[in-house]
Amino acid sequence: MEIEKIYKIIDDMVDNNEGLIPILQKLQDELGYLPINVLKVISEKMHLPYQQVFGVTTFYSQFRLEPQGKNLIQLCDGTACHVRGSKKNIRATEKRLGIKRGETTEDMKFTFEVVYCLGSCALSPTAMINKKIVPKLTPSKILKIIDELS
Ligand code: FES
Repeated sequence: MEIEKIYKIIDDMVDNNEGLIPILQKLQDELGYLPINVLKVISEKMHLPYQQVFGVTTFYSQFRLEPQGKNLIQLCDGTACHVRGSKKNIRATEKRLGIKRGETTEDMKFTFEVVYCLGSCALSPTAMINKKIVPKLTPSKILKIIDELS
């Protein structure tokens, strides 16, 4: 996206008295992540210290400062999923993708994250893959899904 379009989104939202978080959410929706130079523009346009803007992006896990892979794999390791074996799924995923949680494969095909409750504890262990809940996950199930997306 051109920088002018980014400026316009920020200007329009600031004019409408939108807060910092909705502006960050909108720009992340548009760009897929929040580049540092965009955070600097937001800081200037909103007359906020850069450290404050940056601090919000690191405080809330919904924000990402790195480009995301084509496929987003989020495995739950919350209490219900943990007691039902989520660790095995996490290990299988890390091994197959060759990355650790929070990382993206070099070919930008996969970003892998561990989250702590997807609100579907009755279906644990669960995953969210490209925004869709996958219930009752097993290592063989996650490996099959990764193969299909590869
Ligand atoms: S703990 Fe995994 S969905 Fe709630």
